[in-house]
Amino acid sequence: CDSKNFAKIVNPTLENLIEAGNKIKNGGLVAFPTETVYGLGANALDKDAVLSIFKAKGRPLTDPVIVHIIESEYALKLLKLTEKQKEIFQVLSDNFWPGPLTIVAKSSELIPMIVTAETGYVGVRFPNHPLAQQLIKHSGKPIAAPSANRFGHVSPTTANHVLDDLADSPITILNSINNNSSCDNKDIDDNNNNTKEEEEACKIGIESTVLKIVSDSELVILRRGGVSEKSLKCVINNKFKDTIQITSINKTVENTTSQGQEAPGQLLTHYAPDIQTFILDNILNSENDNNNNNNKNNDNSLDLKECVYIDFGNQLPNEFKNQCLAYRDLSENKNILEAANQLFAVLRWSENQEGAKIILLPDLRKEPFKSLDNSEAVFDRIFRAASGKQANLSTFN
Ligand code: TXA
Ligand code: MG
Repeated sequence: CDSKNFAKIVNPTLENLIEAGNKIKNGGLVAFPTETVYGLGANALDKDAVLSIFKAKGRPLTDPVIVHIIESEYALKLLKLTEKQKEIFQVLSDNFWPGPLTIVAKSSELIPMIVTAETGYVGVRFPNHPLAQQLIKHSGKPIAAPSANRFGHVSPTTANHVLDDLADSPITILNSINNNSSCDNKDIDDNNNNTKEEEEACKIGIESTVLKIVSDSELVILRRGGVSEKSLKCVINNKFKDTIQITSINKTVENTTSQGQEAPGQLLTHYAPDIQTFILDNILNSENDNNNNNNKNNDNSLDLKECVYIDFGNQLPNEFKNQCLAYRDLSENKNILEAANQLFAVLRWSENQEGAKIILLPDLRKEPFKSLDNSEAVFDRIFRAASGKQANLSTFN
């Protein structure tokens, strides 16, 4: 069979990067690492190329894709902003780019409507990863890229995760770490200033924060992510005093793909493993709130031997730990950055455990976790991975 028609992983040598850049230019698909998650990229100015992203992922056309660029000036050409909005854009890009912030605003004529999912708004982002930047540079194009997973599944943070989900599509997947020991390493960065650490994929591990410029005086966080609400507010309030309001939407729409144009991508089920997943009620407070929760899985008792338990801060009592099929802690030291970095890889590891029927995830909505910076962004992924379903320790036998 013709290997051209299937996804393949390549090392990020200069030669491969140039070839991948040409592939984008010619309408093809390239998956690449960013500091958040892997993206599935195509030329953002070519509507047929963008359509092939939706096809490969099985993604509904109602969900817009982010456009990746490497010059803030160029991003301005893709947007239609008032003078005041340009000032806001400038402050955001100066402070957070390159980095995990996507700025959504009215799109210019350059952007095909499919990229905006017919909303007339486009998200732009300058990724902070040398390979993403090199790919954009070699393609000479802005690159439209959603996360490189099959629609609704756990986001990918390694080249193999992408291959696992999208093997049947003709995608070149750039490996985040060059496996060739010899001289290939020299080729990764034209400027020769990248370190081994910089080559690592997806250090942040969850997606970018998506921030919409709604008007001259209003910004809305559509998705929590790598940049915290606190740092956004700090920068904006510092510069504009209290003339600009920042709010965040806490919206979850049911799993239909025709709703939610105002804030697409808010589906209840998202980032979901292929086996049943629940949030395990906050163990520290479990005695107090056994009676008061809706949406629990109290109907059937669960067998711990079929469960993979994912912990945070070593909460699970030893008696339960030893009974689980498998156990992992996202961060024993209650470090949210570490948990974010681990979450998607651990979810994929969990669904692949032999005999696993259920995944249990930690509840970060209560203290002492709630007030940890960015715990909301991590919990947002946990909540959607479990479609909001809860279980508690009393449901186990
Ligand atoms: O970190 C990230 O943002 C990664 C990397 C690859 O850059 N990309 C990513 O893309 O997570 P995706 O498509 O999986 O998620 C983008 C989210 C979706 O929820 C989408 O609905 C929202 O951002 N979004 C993108 N463009 C938008 C727009 N024009 N208006 C409203 N929401 C938008
Ligand atoms: Mg995604």
